[in-house]
Amino acid sequence: MNTVDKPYNVQQSRSLERLVTGIPTSDGAGVKLTRVLTHDLQRRLDPFLMLDAFGSDSADDYIAGFPSHPHRGFETVTYMIAGRMRHRDSAGHEGLLENGGVQWMTAGRGIIHSEMPEQEEGSMEGFQLWLNLPAGEKMRPAWYRDIKAGELPHYRSEAGADVTVIAGSSHGTAGAVSRAQTEPLYLDIALPSGVRFDQVLPPGHNAFLYVYRGALDVGTTDARRVAAGRMGILANDPAADGVVVQAFSDTRVLLIAGRPLGEPIVQYGPFVMNTREEIEQALNDYRTGRLAA
Ligand code: FE2
Repeated sequence: MNTVDKPYNVQQSRSLERLVTGIPTSDGAGVKLTRVLTHDLQRRLDPFLMLDAFGSDSADDYIAGFPSHPHRGFETVTYMIAGRMRHRDSAGHEGLLENGGVQWMTAGRGIIHSEMPEQEEGSMEGFQLWLNLPAGEKMRPAWYRDIKAGELPHYRSEAGADVTVIAGSSHGTAGAVSRAQTEPLYLDIALPSGVRFDQVLPPGHNAFLYVYRGALDVGTTDARRVAAGRMGILANDPAADGVVVQAFSDTRVLLIAGRPLGEPIVQYGPFVMNTREEIEQALNDYRTGRLAA
């Protein structure tokens, strides 16, 4: 039997619904960053709550780090492209996140941690994604895993796309982390100029991409370009079975998707719960030392 030349799994690509420019801001003790997924997009991009991109060659922009602070009710996924960040938490865990590594942390009922740069010069670049937890799991025990770059599942497509599978599954390669309810997909894709890449996506999953080098075109008909520093929200076209992108130049892009929870989202800073009462409880627990007890 001849091999059928079928370059793509996706028959019909999602289109680009909207381009988003991140908001420059600072967080922690004064780390400069770009908030790509902002509060007003939490409903549209459910189950994702936030995406921050940080990147600087200037130590002044990152050296203050993120001293001790709490979280409750969701997960943080920190992906370090360049640089070194040390993590310590109230459960006694400690880890060094560096050069292509991922830290996946489930805050659950509560964690108090610090995330501090372990360098005084050079470049630091990375991303922090917040993934919501279903109501029934918001008070589960805290959990975390450090995954070094070499341990992250990775493949190269025939066309030449280099794909790191942080979560979910891509062309038969299972990611480092999976979650039953939200089924998150988190890919970091390096595409040489002109190379195409496709990814199957369930139509109901919310999906977006963030280009951080180069530029690419989204879709096969009426393709629209997304340049570095922009997020592209992918339309939930009912007839589309995934997304097709093509690099306009040498490109690096994050592709992120997940099944929406459809539950109320109430956020107060580092706490994300379903009701105001639960937020009051989190604040009270934090004040009285019971958040991470
Ligand atoms: Fe944190």
